[in-house]
Amino acid sequence: MELEHSVLDRYSEGADEVQPDLCCPVDYDASLLKLLPQEIIDKDYGCGDPSRYVKEGDIVLDLGAGSGKICYMAAQLVGDNGKVIGIDMNDDMLALARKYQTEMAEKLGGDKVTFVKGLIQDLTVDLDAVDAQLKQAPISDAESLIRQQQWQQKQSNENPLIANNSVDLVVSNCVLNLVEDSDKTKMIEEIFRVTKPGGRVAISDIVSDEFVPQHLKDDSTLWSGCISGALQEQEMLDAFVKAGFVAVAYDKWEGEPWQVVEDIEFRSVTITATKPKADPCLDVGHAVIYRGPYSEVYDDEGHVYPRGQRIATCARSFELMTQGVYRDDFIGITPKILQEAKTWCAPAGTLRPAVETKGGIHTGSSESCSDETDCC
Ligand SMILES: C[S@@+](CC[C@H](N)C(=O)[O-])C[C@H]1O[C@@H](n2cnc3c(N)ncnc32)[C@H](O)[C@@H]1O
Repeated sequence: MELEHSVLDRYSEGADEVQPDLCCPVDYDASLLKLLPQEIIDKDYGCGDPSRYVKEGDIVLDLGAGSGKICYMAAQLVGDNGKVIGIDMNDDMLALARKYQTEMAEKLGGDKVTFVKGLIQDLTVDLDAVDAQLKQAPISDAESLIRQQQWQQKQSNENPLIANNSVDLVVSNCVLNLVEDSDKTKMIEEIFRVTKPGGRVAISDIVSDEFVPQHLKDDSTLWSGCISGALQEQEMLDAFVKAGFVAVAYDKWEGEPWQVVEDIEFRSVTITATKPKADPCLDVGHAVIYRGPYSEVYDDEGHVYPRGQRIATCARSFELMTQGVYRDDFIGITPKILQEAKTWCAPAGTLRPAVETKGGIHTGSSESCSDETDCC
């Protein structure tokens, strides 16, 4: 709680006046900065540029939007059908981001950006609605506290701030490290919950090369300065895999650390990942071949792909390997005759001989998938 207060205070100061200690040099796409008010460019406390991953039509959620810089950059890329939601817990930062909303809507040709108040570790709670409710029914005793908690629970269940499976791309710029360690797992589970099946994340943040000792975590200046709350570099990727994301990767990695404290290097990185589609494993006879150059690779669902071998895949995995994030690494083999769709598991590494795909003969196991974790 103390750390959370230090984060609130530090970013209220940052909304008021530029804080040079919080600025990490970033090579933004200059063409997207042209439309932005100078104050938003100046009060930049990011460490990367996740706007580079925005596609036309995306619904984008920016966690810890601050002055709204990434939101207003993303809004130039989402086109007429996309939109951008920025979330932040700090009233002063929200006021700064919202100050330019009308001006930016005019420049963008439409009000594509919304800023909401919330905590990124619980994206169900609308803190603007909580403020309004507390004005109307202040907490003065245990009974009013219980009523408030019940109201909040109902709101979260029935009207979550960010709905399940509603976002194409979750971005964030230097914020995950500011969330208390006890809330970090919940935060990444929340990112998974709100991402659409097939949706993506692109998160710029700070990671450490070694685990950060407790005395550095307890230092509120280091914590609120985006340093000692950093996840260790392996821990960061593992947390996204554990939440259910696939194709989890470091897309950007700054070789030069941003800060070094007690010999621990803190550097800026950008992580990308995909939420798998929820389709069942339907095998109709597809195969994929891993192109190389490594002798074999594993994906985040435990499948192994030895170089050059035809590996049986279900239709869902086939789409991910040939049209999704892995498309440059795999060759897709569609069977000449599509088999009758069966829900079944080809154990990881099952070969699909060429004769099957050519002649449409299906010799794989027809056993039903009994354990979801074994499914392809
Ligand atoms: C380092 S600044 C980054 C701001 C912005 N992303 C940028 O690129 O300039 C961190 C921002 O995250 C917000 N923040 C920190 N912890 C948060 C939390 N748990 N929930 C919501 N916002 C949070 C802060 O209020 C602040 O605006």
